[in-house]
Amino acid sequence: MPDRDLLIGRLPKCELHIHIEGSLEPEMVLSLARRNGIRLPWDSVEALRRAYRFGSLQDFLDVYYVGMSVLVTEQDFYDLATAYLQRAHADNVVHVEMFFDPQGHTSRGIPFDTVVNGLFRACVDARETLGIQASLIMCFLRHLDEAGAHRTLDAALVHRDRIVGVGLDSSEKGNPPEKFRNVFRRARDAGFALFAHAGEEGPPNYVWQALDVLGVARVDHGNRALEDAALVARLARDRVPLTVCPLSNLRLRVVDDLKHHPLRHMMEKDLAVTVNSDDPAYFGGYVNDNFSAVVRALDLSAPEIVALARNSFSAAMMPEAERARALARFDAAVKGIGSE
Ligand code: HPA
Ligand code: ZN
Repeated sequence: MPDRDLLIGRLPKCELHIHIEGSLEPEMVLSLARRNGIRLPWDSVEALRRAYRFGSLQDFLDVYYVGMSVLVTEQDFYDLATAYLQRAHADNVVHVEMFFDPQGHTSRGIPFDTVVNGLFRACVDARETLGIQASLIMCFLRHLDEAGAHRTLDAALVHRDRIVGVGLDSSEKGNPPEKFRNVFRRARDAGFALFAHAGEEGPPNYVWQALDVLGVARVDHGNRALEDAALVARLARDRVPLTVCPLSNLRLRVVDDLKHHPLRHMMEKDLAVTVNSDDPAYFGGYVNDNFSAVVRALDLSAPEIVALARNSFSAAMMPEAERARALARFDAAVKGIGSE
């Protein structure tokens, strides 16, 4: 086996927890602001990077929503997603399920269609040019009311064939999953796959609600599930994937040090954990950086790294025949790397 960073780089992987607006790098924030005549509170890359010191999820979200205000035209959304997909491809990501936040744009007067058309065209083109498979998951902003989520779902139904799922993000505390019970039921009936952020800052009860009230297929983050042994048993029994984001957890103070990150405990408890970047432009790294940082901090072994990357294929939304082929390709790649 090569050294751990080389191994991380060489392994094929899926990214299942990436907010596309969170891949907006400072340079692109400034160039789109110029292109669209948007005034920002920051006038340089350095000033932006200085603003990226967060004490909590809310601190980050306050900057994140201002940052995304530079996205105006379909081309902007296309350029954003294309830049991310090229970066992900460089990390050997072969399959992406990309979150986007339509209400962060429609609330500024940007049409829903502009957002989806730009992002979707980038996904189609990346498949052609990079061979990367990418799909879109729209998130409801949980700090807003359920009526707004219903209107967002109405807009998405027009694009039913371009959006594979719905998720739930933004300020977790005080906004439990059950607040969105009815709109998730409608989304399920319309055939969308269901996801929710839960247990990032919120209590284990929010993870239970994501499972039992919303009926999600995966839990985004899920760190605080470890506080509840019955919940851990449930997640393990049902092989519910957790999309864990180590550098996000560090930068949002969900953990005080990566050495205390719960990833190893999650693996020991047989949870279906995956490693992801969340908002790479804001948290200091793309998916391989997240692997490297947590592998070093927790001293994970080569077989543990392989297991984490393999989990991403088990957790991805893909037809079972395609998953079997992807896993066979993954196992062949590991064998090839191991014999070097
Ligand atoms: N948590 C909640 N909402 C978000 C996040 C996150 O980590 N990133 C972007 N929106
Ligand atoms: Zn997230």
